[in-house]
Amino acid sequence: MQEIRKIKEMRSFSQRVKAFGKTIGFVPTMGALHEGHLSLVTEARRKSGVVVVSIFVNPIQFGPKEDYTHYPRNLARDKKLLKEVGTDVIFVPEVEEMFPEGFKTYVEVEALSKVMCGKSRPTHFKGVTTVVAKLFNIVLPDYAFFGEKDYQQQVIIKQMVKDLNFPVEIITLPTVREFDGLAMSSRNAYLSEKERKIAPILYQALTLAKEEIKKGVRDPQKVIRKMRTLIAQEPAVRLDYITLVHPETLEELKVIRGRVLIALAAYLGKARLIDNLVAEAN
Ligand code: PAJ
Repeated sequence: MQEIRKIKEMRSFSQRVKAFGKTIGFVPTMGALHEGHLSLVTEARRKSGVVVVSIFVNPIQFGPKEDYTHYPRNLARDKKLLKEVGTDVIFVPEVEEMFPEGFKTYVEVEALSKVMCGKSRPTHFKGVTTVVAKLFNIVLPDYAFFGEKDYQQQVIIKQMVKDLNFPVEIITLPTVREFDGLAMSSRNAYLSEKERKIAPILYQALTLAKEEIKKGVRDPQKVIRKMRTLIAQEPAVRLDYITLVHPETLEELKVIRGRVLIALAAYLGKARLIDNLVAEAN
């Protein structure tokens, strides 16, 4: 496995790969890797000739009061895991390499960035789309892999790719969960032992919502009330939002019909946790 730190070197590597007629599968990450990340790399390995994984804790997607400085970092462990699942190249740029002084250009996907997580994290998705656009221009992938765990993120990236004609196919893969349903996340490391035991209530609430929809409930507010009542059993959990939206437009539903995205965000101790499920109303 090769480690590349410079943009110029990364791009010339990718250009050489392409000249040989090989495809590039790309998995952008912020490191502190877990099985969720590795499932994306495994699929990239299966589908592409060369696999590139980036590890970059992107400062511009964190709000001023968020966890940028505390975000878990463990490059040595990440490298070992990535090698095991068959990564060819890890791209690990410095912040100054990606955002040198005088950086002025941002990519923003309107509307979709302002709903759901965008309400409490108003500059987050602009930071994500800007760094992902840069990474696409540096890595030149044929395929890029994203997790359904960050559902809104992959919807926004797909919109960006469509609107700006990036020559890349976005592939979204299912959320990998712990044995008790908790969605794997680098931020789970912030949870105390006690909080970690409480955290699966979020997945239980999503499962409850799915069951309600299956039973025929068609009023989103009724489903949300049920979820809130369940989560209220754990007062340590502070809900940011629960919403039922259209899985492509992310528009809030007035009536449940067809495919529905049930999504939530909550604070627990130092962590802000997100999770979602897609349900189908027939
Ligand atoms: P990060 O949180 O490190 O996640 C990298 C990728 O792993 C994302 O596509 C995310 O959806 C996916 N992922 C995380 N947890 C997962 C899980 N439990 N199951 C399946 N996939 C999971 O998302 C980011 O980094 C950043 O915003 C990034 C796109 C790298 C831009 O900085």
